[in-house]
Amino acid sequence: MADQYAHGSDDKRPTEIPALRWEEPPEGPVLILLDQTRLPAEEVELVCTDAPALVEAIRSLAVRGAPLLGIAGAYGVALAAARGFDVDDAAAALEGARPTAVNLAVGVRRALAAHRGVLARGGDEREAAVAALAAARRLHREDAEASARMAGHGLTLLDELLPGGGHRILTHCNTGSLVSGGEGTAFAVALAAHRAGRLRRLWVDETRPLLQGARLTAYEAARRGMAYTLLTDSAAGSLFAAGEVDAVLIGADRIAADGSVANKVGSYPLAVLARYHHVPFIVVAPVTTVDPQTPDGASIEVEQRPGHEVTEVTAPRVPVAGIEAGGGILVAPLGTQAYNPAFDVTPPELVTAIVTEEGAVSPVTTEALAELCARSRPV
Ligand code: MRU
Repeated sequence: MADQYAHGSDDKRPTEIPALRWEEPPEGPVLILLDQTRLPAEEVELVCTDAPALVEAIRSLAVRGAPLLGIAGAYGVALAAARGFDVDDAAAALEGARPTAVNLAVGVRRALAAHRGVLARGGDEREAAVAALAAARRLHREDAEASARMAGHGLTLLDELLPGGGHRILTHCNTGSLVSGGEGTAFAVALAAHRAGRLRRLWVDETRPLLQGARLTAYEAARRGMAYTLLTDSAAGSLFAAGEVDAVLIGADRIAADGSVANKVGSYPLAVLARYHHVPFIVVAPVTTVDPQTPDGASIEVEQRPGHEVTEVTAPRVPVAGIEAGGGILVAPLGTQAYNPAFDVTPPELVTAIVTEEGAVSPVTTEALAELCARSRPV
């Protein structure tokens, strides 16, 4: 299928897309987020001065995506410490803000451990706050490095699986710079293929109901000058049937010890389609997304989101080219109940490979995953 579907982006903005940053103005430290609920119509920043504001930003998906949630959570603990709030309370609230992405808890706990470690050694609150911030910065840096390594491993795997080059990749949700300290997970692999001249097309699922694909992945692909085409989630089946998909690349919010993958709702149907059509289904995620404490897919808590996200179209909420768009337009009769899980779980037998910064696991087994994680986890 062809290039009449191409986007043909002429986006000339800089390709850097920093999703968050820490600043220390005279009034006190702040965590500044690019408000993802406003993209792509507006690039608006949200300034968080305390953990409750960050919790709200996490719940509303102003900041989102597993690796970035971890980084944000760590900075949130640092923020509470630096501003003299109760750090344990802040950590508990941040960790509980969303249940599925394990990275959030990992990030919060890392900064909290650094803070507690200093106090346990007899340091004062100021030193503990400095340590929490250093832990957040380290996680941020490590995530950028992991992202670059995942891109390298992922591209090598793609080239092995698809020796012909000219990859046509289908992706779901958003897994680029907007979820990472670097260029992301699955999206970073597609970007590496683009830079190597081997991406023929990035098929972008719109990702109902909050449109992370349409609003965010398309935004990132346009900024990077990639050849991409947007489709409704329900069009994926006919795209596979037409032989237009060479591989599926997605991220993950939590990977259980047995290799079950929780990711944005709609990932599991893609895995089933991929298997039926003999197309590789590849999951790209940092090792911090693998949770050895979660034995299997059934043990993963899937976040249930409010029904109005399905019964109303709410994004974008701002005027586009002078025309008021969205703003909670009802698309179902008032009072309609909606089933709105944020994620679904793909069993390991449908996953061709899991790519991490430590390399790829294929086939996906409990043992292979444990061995991979042991390479990176300090004991
Ligand atoms: O609800 P979201 O937008 O936070 O969901 C994000 C996803 O499902 C991503 O695919 C996942 O976090 C992986 S990003 C590396």
